[in-house]
Amino acid sequence: MCNNSNLRFKNIKKKIEVKMNEIVEELNTSELGTKQFWEQRYIEEIENFNKFGDPGEIWFGEDSAERVINWIVCSNIKESKILDIGCGNGMFLIELAREGFTNLFGTDYSQNAINLAKAIAHKQDFSWINYCVKDILAEEFNHTFDIIHDKGTYDAICLNENPKDAREKYTNIILKSLNKDGYFIITSCNWTKDELNMQFKSKFTPVEIIPTPQFKFGGKVGHLVTTVIYKTI
Ligand SMILES: C[S@@+](CC[C@H](N)C(=O)[O-])C[C@H]1O[C@@H](n2cnc3c(N)ncnc32)[C@H](O)[C@@H]1O
Repeated sequence: MCNNSNLRFKNIKKKIEVKMNEIVEELNTSELGTKQFWEQRYIEEIENFNKFGDPGEIWFGEDSAERVINWIVCSNIKESKILDIGCGNGMFLIELAREGFTNLFGTDYSQNAINLAKAIAHKQDFSWINYCVKDILAEEFNHTFDIIHDKGTYDAICLNENPKDAREKYTNIILKSLNKDGYFIITSCNWTKDELNMQFKSKFTPVEIIPTPQFKFGGKVGHLVTTVIYKTI
């Protein structure tokens, strides 16, 4: 579930383009779309981790990561090489390591996030998880993956100053870094499944929607987060 700081992601969308009856909307820019924000945020989280052993925020709640991990576990793809983009504190990879996955990679453009992720992994005896600092909009990966996972990173990227350009770079880098028949799994609190499908439809096709809790407001049913699993077209 989105908690208070997750809710800061919830931005008023402004319509920017109407094309063939499809409405593409843009989010207002926000500090959550800047590296400076995340570097500062992870300094605070490192302090908390050092003082209290608290790994920091689990974005969209533990249930959200658990649903994806269950899907991966049930898919019987144990040997998969898995990349978590914008991994933050790395807790998603730690949970996969606990499930017996051994080919795990995490990347984030915040050096402080990677320092935190490494410290947590070390403390939990998972120092072997591969972490590196990388801005996924600026640098390519030098290998490819069976699963690329994103929880909240695309949301953050869409809040940066040039979101259209950023989205295009993001989609291309995912496409280049995914093995044939690989899965791209995304959890978002800013976009619905239809909006995600519309944004990725030129390169990816949805293969599954992981059910997430619903809420009802004013007679309308909605979701606080959306998780979609894609394959390349
Ligand atoms: C909402 S947090 C989610 C963190 C983590 N995925 C989780 O679920 O706990 C967004 C993360 O995306 C990272 N990020 C944003 N833009 C990025 C980029 N261009 N390249 C790599 N990481 C990025 C931020 O540093 C931050 O750790």
